[in-house]
Amino acid sequence: MSETIYLNGKLIPKTEAAISPEDRGFNFADGIYEVIKYYEGKPFRYADHMERLKRSLREIRIDFNGFNQLETVFQSLLEQNGLASQEAGIYLQITRGSRTRIHHFPENMNPTIYATAFPFASKWDQLENGVKVITTEDIRWLRCDIKSISLLPNVLAAENAHEQDAVEAIFIRNGIITEGSHSSFMAVKDGVVYTHPDSNLILPGITKKVVMEICRANGIPVIEEGILSSELAGMDEMMIVGTGSEVSPVVKIDETPVGNGQPGSVYPFHSGEIL
Ligand SMILES: Cc1ncc(COP(=O)(O)O)c(C=O)c1O
Repeated sequence: MSETIYLNGKLIPKTEAAISPEDRGFNFADGIYEVIKYYEGKPFRYADHMERLKRSLREIRIDFNGFNQLETVFQSLLEQNGLASQEAGIYLQITRGSRTRIHHFPENMNPTIYATAFPFASKWDQLENGVKVITTEDIRWLRCDIKSISLLPNVLAAENAHEQDAVEAIFIRNGIITEGSHSSFMAVKDGVVYTHPDSNLILPGITKKVVMEICRANGIPVIEEGILSSELAGMDEMMIVGTGSEVSPVVKIDETPVGNGQPGSVYPFHSGEIL
């Protein structure tokens, strides 16, 4: 049975989807996206994703006002693809639409709206045993706060990590850790959690925000301050956090073990239990 996707107002079989070769998403990466995780049919921090979506659209000046219909569309996608009672993801992409290729915004555009549902199980092995990451130069643009579909530097960095048996590449800009290619980065020193402040240099991660809330509610101090790459070696603990990564402990960075090479003590998952 063919997958059902959503395209421009309709739920249709994926095999029938048609997008113009002049779509500005295809030609210019002129669009934005969101990824939302559903746990047994319930979205994680839906309102935060919608707020970030609106902000991304506003920042690149795409006119879209169909926000109210989206939740129903996402539920239908999960149901029609048999994903409503398991861990699933929704990918939503909005591009400026299609017109003969010119750089500036054409007038009277209809945005292209595409959404799809996919199985998105937690990676329990990584959550329990930790992951390896690499560090790499942050060669991205200066508006990383927009969830743009223009992801080539992220893709190249992620491939570099993959080729070194790592799950993520952590970007360093001017000697400061910014974030991962598809996750936020947090590190712990003497019981204090450090992470880059929200700015034009990183995506305002929703999982990071939730982790900071949980830390503060539990008396764990969080300092939103960029970590110097020269200080990495002295960190007790590191985590990559994101919609797909959830909260994954980093046990190796480049070829160096983090702490004692095991998930650290601030990390909430120990011996099969979420504390
Ligand atoms: C570059 C980047 N930073 C951070 C994140 C984490 O954001 P969130 O927790 O909202 O998934 C992502 C997730 O896709 C990302 O692509």
